[in-house]
Amino acid sequence: MRVLFVSSEVSPFSKTGGLADVSGALPGALVRAGADVRVVTPLYRGVREGGWALEPAGVCEVPGPAGGEVATVFSATLPSGPQVWFVDHPRYFDRPGLYGERGQDYPDNLERFSFFCRAVLGWIRTCGWQPDLVHCNDWQAALVPVYMRTVEASHWDRVGTVLTVHNLAYQGLFGADQFPGLGLPPDLFSPRYLEFWGRVNVLKGGLVFADVLTTVSETYAREIQTEEFGCGLEGVLRERSADLYGILNGADYSVWDPRHDPHIPARYGPEDLSGKAVCKAALQREMGLRADADVLLFGMVSRLVEQKGVDLVVACVDRMVQAGAQLAVLGTGDPKLEAALLRAAEAHPGAVGVRIGFDERLAHWIEAGSDAFLMPSRYEPSGLNQLYSLRYGTVPVVRRTGGLADSVVDATPEALARGEANGFVFEAYSPDALWEAVARALATYRDRETWLRLVRSGMAADFSWDRAAGRYVELYRLAVAKRRAVPS
Ligand code: ADP
Ligand code: GLC
Repeated sequence: MRVLFVSSEVSPFSKTGGLADVSGALPGALVRAGADVRVVTPLYRGVREGGWALEPAGVCEVPGPAGGEVATVFSATLPSGPQVWFVDHPRYFDRPGLYGERGQDYPDNLERFSFFCRAVLGWIRTCGWQPDLVHCNDWQAALVPVYMRTVEASHWDRVGTVLTVHNLAYQGLFGADQFPGLGLPPDLFSPRYLEFWGRVNVLKGGLVFADVLTTVSETYAREIQTEEFGCGLEGVLRERSADLYGILNGADYSVWDPRHDPHIPARYGPEDLSGKAVCKAALQREMGLRADADVLLFGMVSRLVEQKGVDLVVACVDRMVQAGAQLAVLGTGDPKLEAALLRAAEAHPGAVGVRIGFDERLAHWIEAGSDAFLMPSRYEPSGLNQLYSLRYGTVPVVRRTGGLADSVVDATPEALARGEANGFVFEAYSPDALWEAVARALATYRDRETWLRLVRSGMAADFSWDRAAGRYVELYRLAVAKRRAVPS
């Protein structure tokens, strides 16, 4: 099974969120599961200037409305093994951000990523390596199956396609005036295909044309077929529900494991947690928190967007501090949420520490140094930080939605008795519901024995990528079989 994995961010080369972690780790796990995998992604400025060993791989022609262009392709290797191709086009990708700057999307994102998608196909036609299956991720890659089944249909009739939705709220919506630039047949701008309330919806095109659809947890796969979570695409998803699968993300334990994490001040494992106490003291110093081994320190690392429930945390912070807890937050995003968190830190010196920015090392410090981890998300397709938290013995406090519901088991007396509990889960999206879970965490923390049971059961859980990779390979086979059953 030869698989081309198409993604707009790939850790450690480029990253704004969990998609990068997935794209950095899943391809390696697919290789371990027996697939031959190549990854393809844009050559952003951060990659070019990141000191990576990039080898020129070749050039390819990219058809376009203005008669076509040329893309240069570079190559490197992922730490997990597979080869990565970088599509270079300075006008589109040599910029400070991946998708935008200062919270504003680049206005030509449709042009940038449709170019990327056509370049991917142009490159595969020329490079001599032919995939059996193309696995596309999110709207930035969603035009690949659209081109494969329309203007380039004759080339690709034996190649299967899988589209993974990592977050349905990001659909790639653009004005109708931009449709002609895509070089697609005009009748595709209709509600059956890419049109969405008078605009171009790129993800919708992928959802219609890909052979198999996946999303990143079983619960989210069900949720997105409802009006509450479907972001207007629930009808399309329901129509394709027979081809829609949920596979929970994994954690890359070569990067996220306190036993050998090079970022953190001290290493530790379930058999000896003394290193975790060292990490906690270091985190308290780093974030300006009172040095105290006995307070419950809550951590949070997050894109600061509506999705993540930051407003609930802000609404609870006074109660948390009054109850004697500390809070360490790292994040960047919506300026209003950033300001609200900074105000909370100012109001509670020594108890609340907030760092605005993107900081890989501090993210590891917070995972290791906190006692508990907050993820009160409004919705959460998979979530990775709760998986990392479990491995770091940092008890997750989460809302029951998406992948959080599929990975965190609430510490009810029954679940504790069965030895299955690994965190605290609440239902309603409200400050009181979050507070109730936080209060339970505080009470349990005072009972050292029970707390340690939670910590150890989280650390023992196995959310490695190999389990998920096996399921992806099954779906790849299914997608290829479906495709090859279609008469050409
Ligand atoms: P999402 O993809 O929705 O942002 P995930 O939980 O899947 O959520 O993944 C988030 C990833 O991004 C994690 O690896 C997390 O540590 C990282 N991350 C988020 N914000 C920051 C930040 N400000 N600094 C460093 N890493 C961050
Ligand atoms: C998205 C989701 C997150 C998921 C990540 C990787 O950004 O918000 O829940 O873990 O993609 O799949």
